[in-house]
Amino acid sequence: MTEEIVKSALSKVLYPGFTKDIVTFGFVNNIVINGNDVSFNVEITSSAPEVAQQISDDAVAELKAVGAANVSANVRSPKMPKESSSRGKNIAPQVKNFLMVSSGKGGVGKSTTSVNIAIALAAQGKKVGLLDADIYGPNIPRMMGISDIKPEVNGNKVLPIKAYGIEIMSMGSLMEPGQSLIWRGAMIMKAIEQFLRDILWSELDVLVIDMPPGTGDAQLTLAQSVPVTVGLTVTTPQGVSLDDSRRSLDMFKKLHIPIAGIIENMSGFIAPDTGVEYDIFGKGTSTPMANEFNTKIIAEIPIEPAIRTGGDEGKPITFVSPNSESAKRYMAAAESIWATIEEINANGGVDNQAVQPTTAPGVSACSTAAAPKQQAPQKSDSGCGCH
Ligand SMILES: Nc1ncnc2c1ncn2[C@@H]1O[C@H](COP(=O)(O)OP(=O)(O)O)[C@@H](O)[C@H]1O
Ligand SMILES: [Mg+2]
Repeated sequence: MTEEIVKSALSKVLYPGFTKDIVTFGFVNNIVINGNDVSFNVEITSSAPEVAQQISDDAVAELKAVGAANVSANVRSPKMPKESSSRGKNIAPQVKNFLMVSSGKGGVGKSTTSVNIAIALAAQGKKVGLLDADIYGPNIPRMMGISDIKPEVNGNKVLPIKAYGIEIMSMGSLMEPGQSLIWRGAMIMKAIEQFLRDILWSELDVLVIDMPPGTGDAQLTLAQSVPVTVGLTVTTPQGVSLDDSRRSLDMFKKLHIPIAGIIENMSGFIAPDTGVEYDIFGKGTSTPMANEFNTKIIAEIPIEPAIRTGGDEGKPITFVSPNSESAKRYMAAAESIWATIEEINANGGVDNQAVQPTTAPGVSACSTAAAPKQQAPQKSDSGCGCH
Protein backbone atom coordinates (compact mmCIF):
# COMPACT_ATOMS: atom_id res chain seq x y z
CA MET A 1 0.00 0.00 0.00
CA THR A 2 1.35 3.44 -0.91
CA GLU A 3 0.19 6.98 -0.24
CA GLU A 4 -0.65 7.35 -3.96
CA ILE A 5 -2.95 4.33 -3.85
CA VAL A 6 -4.62 5.61 -0.68
CA LYS A 7 -5.13 9.08 -2.13
CA SER A 8 -6.44 7.77 -5.40
CA ALA A 9 -8.92 5.51 -3.56
CA LEU A 10 -10.04 8.38 -1.32
CA SER A 11 -10.48 10.65 -4.30
CA LYS A 12 -13.45 8.46 -5.22
CA VAL A 13 -15.20 9.48 -2.01
CA LEU A 14 -17.50 12.38 -2.83
CA TYR A 15 -18.35 14.91 -0.19
CA PRO A 16 -22.07 14.23 0.43
CA GLY A 17 -24.20 16.55 -1.68
CA PHE A 18 -21.27 17.64 -3.84
CA THR A 19 -19.70 16.42 -7.04
CA LYS A 20 -16.23 16.96 -5.60
CA ASP A 21 -14.33 14.46 -3.51
CA ILE A 22 -12.76 14.79 -0.08
CA VAL A 23 -9.19 14.84 -1.44
CA THR A 24 -9.95 17.66 -3.89
CA PHE A 25 -11.59 19.63 -1.10
CA GLY A 26 -8.35 19.20 0.87
CA PHE A 27 -10.03 17.51 3.84
CA VAL A 28 -7.72 14.45 4.03
CA ASN A 29 -4.52 14.57 6.07
CA ASN A 30 -2.23 12.56 8.31
CA ILE A 31 -2.21 9.40 6.18
CA VAL A 32 -0.30 6.64 8.02
CA ILE A 33 0.43 3.36 6.24
CA ASN A 34 1.63 0.24 7.99
CA GLY A 35 1.83 -2.68 5.56
CA ASN A 36 -1.75 -2.93 4.35
CA ASP A 37 -3.21 -1.08 7.32
CA VAL A 38 -4.20 2.52 6.72
CA SER A 39 -5.26 5.32 8.99
CA PHE A 40 -5.98 8.94 8.11
CA ASN A 41 -7.92 12.00 9.22
CA VAL A 42 -10.71 13.72 7.35
CA GLU A 43 -11.21 17.21 8.72
CA ILE A 44 -14.67 18.40 7.85
CA THR A 45 -16.52 21.31 9.32
CA SER A 46 -19.95 19.74 8.96
CA SER A 47 -21.70 19.15 12.22
CA ALA A 48 -24.16 16.66 10.69
CA PRO A 49 -23.36 13.16 11.99
CA GLU A 50 -24.72 11.52 8.82
CA VAL A 51 -22.15 13.40 6.71
CA ALA A 52 -19.28 12.06 8.82
CA GLN A 53 -20.73 8.54 8.77
CA GLN A 54 -21.18 8.48 5.01
CA ILE A 55 -17.64 9.73 4.38
CA SER A 56 -16.25 7.12 6.75
CA ASP A 57 -18.26 4.25 5.20
CA ASP A 58 -17.36 5.25 1.65
CA ALA A 59 -13.67 5.71 2.50
CA VAL A 60 -13.42 2.27 4.14
CA ALA A 61 -15.16 0.64 1.17
CA GLU A 62 -12.89 2.33 -1.40
CA LEU A 63 -9.71 1.42 0.49
CA LYS A 64 -10.75 -2.20 1.01
CA ALA A 65 -11.45 -2.38 -2.72
CA VAL A 66 -7.78 -1.61 -3.41
CA GLY A 67 -6.51 -4.17 -0.90
CA ALA A 68 -6.32 -2.37 2.45
CA ALA A 69 -6.70 -4.61 5.50
CA ASN A 70 -7.51 -2.53 8.58
CA VAL A 71 -8.79 0.95 7.79
CA SER A 72 -9.13 3.62 10.42
CA ALA A 73 -10.91 6.70 9.08
CA ASN A 74 -10.95 9.46 11.68
CA VAL A 75 -13.60 11.81 10.39
CA ARG A 76 -13.35 14.82 12.60
CA SER A 77 -16.32 17.10 12.65
CA PRO A 78 -16.80 19.96 15.06
CA LYS A 79 -19.34 19.81 17.81
CA MET A 80 -22.93 20.56 16.83
CA PRO A 81 -23.30 24.27 16.20
CA LYS A 82 -25.48 25.85 18.76
CA GLU A 83 -28.96 26.68 17.60
CA SER A 84 -29.29 30.35 16.94
CA SER A 85 -29.85 32.17 20.15
CA SER A 86 -31.22 35.22 18.39
CA ARG A 87 -34.39 36.95 19.48
CA GLY A 88 -36.94 39.38 18.13
CA LYS A 89 -39.06 39.16 15.01
CA ASN A 90 -38.20 36.25 12.73
CA ILE A 91 -40.49 35.42 9.80
CA ALA A 92 -38.16 32.59 8.67
CA PRO A 93 -37.55 30.76 11.96
CA GLN A 94 -36.25 27.60 10.31
CA VAL A 95 -33.16 29.54 9.27
CA LYS A 96 -30.63 29.60 12.09
CA ASN A 97 -28.41 32.42 10.91
CA PHE A 98 -28.63 35.24 8.39
CA LEU A 99 -25.62 36.75 6.63
CA MET A 100 -26.34 40.08 4.94
CA VAL A 101 -23.89 40.90 2.15
CA SER A 102 -23.84 44.60 1.50
CA SER A 103 -21.92 47.27 -0.36
CA GLY A 104 -22.08 51.01 -0.74
CA LYS A 105 -22.57 50.75 -4.48
CA GLY A 106 -23.02 48.33 -7.36
CA GLY A 107 -20.35 46.65 -9.41
CA VAL A 108 -17.91 46.03 -6.56
CA GLY A 109 -18.45 42.27 -6.53
CA LYS A 110 -21.21 41.80 -4.00
CA SER A 111 -22.99 39.05 -5.94
CA THR A 112 -19.69 37.36 -6.78
CA THR A 113 -18.79 37.43 -3.09
CA SER A 114 -22.21 36.13 -2.00
CA VAL A 115 -21.97 33.20 -4.41
CA ASN A 116 -18.44 32.21 -3.46
CA ILE A 117 -18.95 32.62 0.26
CA ALA A 118 -22.13 30.52 0.03
CA ILE A 119 -20.22 27.80 -1.83
CA ALA A 120 -17.35 27.95 0.66
CA LEU A 121 -19.72 27.64 3.62
CA ALA A 122 -21.40 24.65 1.95
CA ALA A 123 -18.01 23.06 1.28
CA GLN A 124 -17.34 23.44 4.98
CA GLY A 125 -20.43 21.35 5.67
CA LYS A 126 -23.01 24.01 6.40
CA LYS A 127 -26.55 23.83 5.06
CA VAL A 128 -26.68 27.00 3.02
CA GLY A 129 -29.31 29.08 1.27
CA LEU A 130 -28.59 31.99 -1.07
CA LEU A 131 -31.21 34.69 -1.41
CA ASP A 132 -30.78 37.21 -4.19
CA ALA A 133 -32.45 40.24 -2.65
CA ASP A 134 -31.11 42.53 -5.39
CA ILE A 135 -34.57 42.87 -6.84
CA TYR A 136 -33.65 45.35 -9.58
CA GLY A 137 -30.44 43.61 -10.64
CA PRO A 138 -30.76 39.89 -9.93
CA ASN A 139 -27.51 38.26 -11.08
CA ILE A 140 -27.45 35.19 -8.87
CA PRO A 141 -29.27 32.85 -11.33
CA ARG A 142 -26.61 33.39 -13.99
CA MET A 143 -23.75 33.18 -11.50
CA MET A 144 -25.10 29.88 -10.10
CA GLY A 145 -25.87 28.48 -13.56
CA ILE A 146 -29.64 28.29 -13.05
CA SER A 147 -30.85 30.99 -15.48
CA ASP A 148 -33.00 28.52 -17.37
CA ILE A 149 -34.59 26.90 -14.34
CA LYS A 150 -37.98 27.97 -13.06
CA PRO A 151 -38.81 27.14 -9.46
CA GLU A 152 -41.54 24.69 -8.51
CA VAL A 153 -44.60 26.18 -6.93
CA ASN A 154 -46.25 24.29 -4.11
CA GLY A 155 -49.60 25.86 -3.22
CA ASN A 156 -48.78 29.50 -2.61
CA LYS A 157 -45.26 28.58 -1.56
CA VAL A 158 -42.24 28.34 -3.82
CA LEU A 159 -39.51 25.74 -3.57
CA PRO A 160 -36.00 27.12 -3.77
CA ILE A 161 -33.91 26.00 -6.75
CA LYS A 162 -30.90 23.83 -5.87
CA ALA A 163 -27.42 24.11 -7.36
CA TYR A 164 -23.99 23.24 -5.98
CA GLY A 165 -25.69 21.90 -2.86
CA ILE A 166 -27.21 25.32 -2.11
CA GLU A 167 -30.86 26.42 -1.99
CA ILE A 168 -31.36 29.53 -4.12
CA MET A 169 -34.08 32.05 -4.79
CA SER A 170 -33.99 35.19 -6.88
CA MET A 171 -36.43 37.60 -8.47
CA GLY A 172 -34.61 36.68 -11.68
CA SER A 173 -35.93 33.13 -11.36
CA LEU A 174 -39.50 34.39 -11.00
CA MET A 175 -39.49 36.87 -13.91
CA GLU A 176 -39.07 36.48 -17.64
CA PRO A 177 -35.47 37.19 -18.71
CA GLY A 178 -34.66 40.81 -19.49
CA GLN A 179 -37.74 42.24 -17.74
CA SER A 180 -37.22 45.26 -15.57
CA LEU A 181 -39.03 46.17 -12.40
CA ILE A 182 -40.14 49.66 -11.50
CA TRP A 183 -41.22 49.40 -7.92
CA ARG A 184 -41.95 51.69 -5.03
CA GLY A 185 -40.38 51.16 -1.65
CA ALA A 186 -43.47 49.45 -0.23
CA MET A 187 -43.36 46.82 -2.99
CA ILE A 188 -39.69 46.15 -2.31
CA MET A 189 -40.55 45.63 1.35
CA LYS A 190 -43.30 43.16 0.44
CA ALA A 191 -40.98 41.26 -1.90
CA ILE A 192 -38.31 40.90 0.79
CA GLU A 193 -40.90 39.61 3.25
CA GLN A 194 -42.20 37.09 0.72
CA PHE A 195 -38.69 35.90 -0.05
CA LEU A 196 -38.35 35.03 3.62
CA ARG A 197 -41.85 33.79 4.41
CA ASP A 198 -43.15 32.16 1.21
CA ILE A 199 -40.03 30.43 -0.03
CA LEU A 200 -39.81 26.91 1.40
CA TRP A 201 -36.29 27.21 2.78
CA SER A 202 -35.27 24.10 4.67
CA GLU A 203 -33.66 24.17 8.06
CA LEU A 204 -30.61 26.15 7.04
CA ASP A 205 -27.49 26.81 9.07
CA VAL A 206 -27.16 30.07 7.23
CA LEU A 207 -28.97 32.12 4.59
CA VAL A 208 -26.58 34.31 2.61
CA ILE A 209 -28.42 37.39 1.36
CA ASP A 210 -27.11 39.37 -1.60
CA MET A 211 -28.55 42.83 -1.02
CA PRO A 212 -29.15 45.60 -3.54
CA PRO A 213 -26.39 48.23 -3.41
CA GLY A 214 -26.70 51.05 -0.93
CA THR A 215 -28.75 51.49 2.19
CA GLY A 216 -32.48 51.56 1.65
CA ASP A 217 -35.84 49.89 2.09
CA ALA A 218 -34.61 46.38 1.32
CA GLN A 219 -31.92 46.56 4.00
CA LEU A 220 -34.28 47.99 6.60
CA THR A 221 -37.06 45.51 5.85
CA LEU A 222 -34.67 42.58 6.07
CA ALA A 223 -33.34 43.76 9.43
CA GLN A 224 -36.89 44.20 10.72
CA SER A 225 -38.15 40.82 9.44
CA VAL A 226 -35.41 38.53 10.71
CA PRO A 227 -32.64 38.88 13.27
CA VAL A 228 -29.65 39.33 10.96
CA THR A 229 -26.75 37.52 12.63
CA VAL A 230 -23.92 39.26 10.80
CA GLY A 231 -23.24 41.75 8.04
CA LEU A 232 -20.46 41.56 5.47
CA THR A 233 -19.33 44.61 3.51
CA VAL A 234 -17.78 44.25 0.07
CA THR A 235 -15.61 47.08 -1.17
CA THR A 236 -13.00 47.77 -3.81
CA PRO A 237 -9.77 49.47 -2.77
CA GLN A 238 -10.29 52.88 -4.44
CA GLY A 239 -10.97 55.86 -2.20
CA VAL A 240 -14.36 56.60 -3.77
CA SER A 241 -15.51 53.07 -3.14
CA LEU A 242 -14.36 53.27 0.46
CA ASP A 243 -16.52 56.36 1.02
CA ASP A 244 -19.57 54.35 -0.01
CA SER A 245 -18.54 51.32 2.01
CA ARG A 246 -18.29 53.45 5.11
CA ARG A 247 -22.02 54.13 4.70
CA SER A 248 -22.69 50.40 4.44
CA LEU A 249 -20.79 49.77 7.69
CA ASP A 250 -22.57 52.65 9.36
CA MET A 251 -25.89 51.10 8.32
CA PHE A 252 -24.96 47.83 10.06
CA LYS A 253 -24.23 49.82 13.19
CA LYS A 254 -27.55 51.66 13.03
CA LEU A 255 -29.45 48.43 12.40
CA HIS A 256 -27.65 46.74 15.33
CA ILE A 257 -26.14 44.12 13.00
CA PRO A 258 -22.75 42.78 14.14
CA ILE A 259 -20.11 43.15 11.42
CA ALA A 260 -18.40 39.93 10.27
CA GLY A 261 -15.78 41.87 8.34
CA ILE A 262 -14.89 43.49 5.05
CA ILE A 263 -13.98 41.77 1.81
CA GLU A 264 -11.64 43.91 -0.24
CA ASN A 265 -12.44 42.80 -3.77
CA MET A 266 -10.44 43.54 -6.93
CA SER A 267 -7.49 43.91 -4.61
CA GLY A 268 -4.52 43.39 -6.91
CA PHE A 269 -4.49 41.35 -10.10
CA ILE A 270 -3.27 37.80 -10.61
CA ALA A 271 -1.92 37.37 -14.14
CA PRO A 272 -3.36 34.16 -15.56
CA ASP A 273 -0.17 33.30 -17.49
CA THR A 274 2.42 33.78 -14.75
CA GLY A 275 0.37 33.74 -11.55
CA VAL A 276 2.21 36.93 -10.49
CA GLU A 277 0.12 39.32 -8.39
CA TYR A 278 0.08 43.03 -9.37
CA ASP A 279 -1.32 46.04 -7.59
CA ILE A 280 -3.96 47.95 -9.62
CA PHE A 281 -6.43 49.89 -7.47
CA GLY A 282 -4.31 49.73 -4.36
CA LYS A 283 -4.28 46.99 -1.77
CA GLY A 284 -5.08 47.03 1.89
CA THR A 285 -6.55 50.52 1.60
CA SER A 286 -9.63 49.42 3.56
CA THR A 287 -7.67 48.73 6.74
CA PRO A 288 -8.18 52.16 8.37
CA MET A 289 -11.92 51.88 7.71
CA ALA A 290 -11.97 48.41 9.21
CA ASN A 291 -10.25 49.75 12.32
CA GLU A 292 -12.69 52.63 12.53
CA PHE A 293 -15.59 50.16 12.68
CA ASN A 294 -13.77 47.78 14.96
CA THR A 295 -13.72 45.04 12.36
CA LYS A 296 -11.22 43.44 9.98
CA ILE A 297 -10.49 42.64 6.35
CA ILE A 298 -11.31 38.96 6.13
CA ALA A 299 -10.13 38.57 2.53
CA GLU A 300 -8.35 40.46 -0.20
CA ILE A 301 -9.68 38.95 -3.40
CA PRO A 302 -7.58 39.75 -6.46
CA ILE A 303 -8.92 40.55 -9.91
CA GLU A 304 -8.74 37.16 -11.53
CA PRO A 305 -10.21 36.49 -14.98
CA ALA A 306 -11.48 33.10 -13.76
CA ILE A 307 -13.68 34.88 -11.20
CA ARG A 308 -15.41 36.84 -13.96
CA THR A 309 -15.77 33.90 -16.34
CA GLY A 310 -16.95 31.74 -13.44
CA GLY A 311 -19.68 34.32 -12.78
CA ASP A 312 -20.71 34.66 -16.40
CA GLU A 313 -20.75 30.92 -17.00
CA GLY A 314 -22.39 29.89 -13.75
CA LYS A 315 -19.31 28.03 -12.55
CA PRO A 316 -18.17 29.70 -9.34
CA ILE A 317 -14.41 29.64 -8.88
CA THR A 318 -14.64 28.29 -5.33
CA PHE A 319 -16.40 25.23 -6.69
CA VAL A 320 -14.65 24.61 -10.00
CA SER A 321 -11.10 25.64 -8.99
CA PRO A 322 -10.90 25.05 -5.24
CA ASN A 323 -7.10 25.17 -5.40
CA SER A 324 -6.96 28.64 -6.95
CA GLU A 325 -5.66 31.47 -4.80
CA SER A 326 -9.03 33.24 -4.82
CA ALA A 327 -10.95 30.10 -3.83
CA LYS A 328 -8.59 29.60 -0.88
CA ARG A 329 -9.18 33.19 0.21
CA TYR A 330 -12.96 32.76 -0.06
CA MET A 331 -12.68 29.57 2.03
CA ALA A 332 -10.66 31.39 4.69
CA ALA A 333 -13.16 34.26 4.70
CA ALA A 334 -16.05 31.81 5.12
CA GLU A 335 -14.30 30.21 8.10
CA SER A 336 -13.82 33.60 9.66
CA ILE A 337 -17.48 34.52 9.11
CA TRP A 338 -18.63 31.24 10.64
CA ALA A 339 -16.37 31.76 13.66
CA THR A 340 -17.99 35.18 14.15
CA ILE A 341 -21.48 33.68 13.85
CA GLU A 342 -20.68 31.04 16.46
CA GLU A 343 -19.21 33.63 18.78
CA ILE A 344 -22.29 35.83 18.44
CA ASN A 345 -24.60 32.92 19.20
CA ALA A 346 -22.46 31.82 22.14
CA ASN A 347 -22.82 35.34 23.53
CA GLY A 348 -26.61 35.40 23.38
CA GLY A 349 -27.26 36.08 19.69
CA VAL A 350 -28.74 39.15 18.08
CA ASP A 351 -32.03 40.90 18.72
CA ASN A 352 -33.85 43.01 16.14
CA GLN A 353 -36.40 44.39 18.61
CA ALA A 354 -34.76 47.81 18.57
CA VAL A 355 -35.27 48.26 14.81
CA GLN A 356 -38.95 47.32 14.61
CA PRO A 357 -41.12 49.84 12.77
CA THR A 358 -43.15 52.31 14.73
CA THR A 359 -45.35 53.13 11.73
CA ALA A 360 -48.54 51.36 10.62
CA PRO A 361 -48.08 47.94 8.99
CA GLY A 362 -47.21 48.15 5.31
CA VAL A 363 -45.92 51.71 5.55
CA SER A 364 -42.20 52.23 5.32
CA ALA A 365 -40.83 54.17 8.25
CA CYS A 366 -38.07 55.45 6.04
CA SER A 367 -39.72 56.02 2.67
CA THR A 368 -42.20 58.38 4.16
CA ALA A 369 -42.76 60.41 0.98
CA ALA A 370 -45.70 58.24 -0.09
CA ALA A 371 -47.03 57.70 3.42
CA PRO A 372 -49.81 59.77 5.01
CA LYS A 373 -48.38 62.38 7.28
CA GLN A 374 -49.71 61.05 10.56
CA GLN A 375 -47.95 57.74 9.91
CA ALA A 376 -44.54 59.26 9.46
CA PRO A 377 -42.16 58.83 12.37
CA GLN A 378 -42.51 61.66 14.84
CA LYS A 379 -39.03 61.69 16.23
CA SER A 380 -35.64 61.05 14.77
CA ASP A 381 -35.10 58.26 17.30
CA SER A 382 -38.33 56.55 16.27
CA GLY A 383 -36.76 53.12 16.40
CA CYS A 384 -36.82 52.40 12.71
CA GLY A 385 -33.06 52.34 12.79
CA CYS A 386 -32.54 54.44 9.69
CA HIS A 387 -32.38 57.94 11.13
N1 LIG B 1 -12.24 39.60 -8.10
C1 LIG B 1 -12.76 39.68 -9.32
N2 LIG B 1 -12.02 39.40 -10.44
C2 LIG B 1 -12.56 39.48 -11.67
N3 LIG B 1 -13.81 39.84 -11.92
C3 LIG B 1 -14.60 40.14 -10.86
C4 LIG B 1 -14.14 40.06 -9.52
N4 LIG B 1 -15.15 40.41 -8.69
C5 LIG B 1 -16.21 40.68 -9.47
N5 LIG B 1 -15.89 40.53 -10.79
C6 LIG B 1 -16.76 40.76 -11.94
O1 LIG B 1 -17.19 42.12 -11.87
C7 LIG B 1 -18.55 42.24 -12.27
C8 LIG B 1 -19.36 42.87 -11.12
O2 LIG B 1 -19.41 41.97 -10.03
P1 LIG B 1 -20.78 41.69 -9.25
O3 LIG B 1 -20.51 40.59 -8.29
O4 LIG B 1 -21.90 41.50 -10.22
O5 LIG B 1 -20.93 43.07 -8.48
P2 LIG B 1 -22.18 43.67 -7.64
O6 LIG B 1 -23.05 42.54 -7.22
O7 LIG B 1 -21.54 44.39 -6.48
O8 LIG B 1 -22.87 44.62 -8.56
C9 LIG B 1 -19.00 40.83 -12.64
O9 LIG B 1 -18.88 40.66 -14.02
C10 LIG B 1 -18.02 39.93 -11.90
O10 LIG B 1 -17.84 38.69 -12.56
MG1 LIG C 1 -25.06 42.15 -7.74
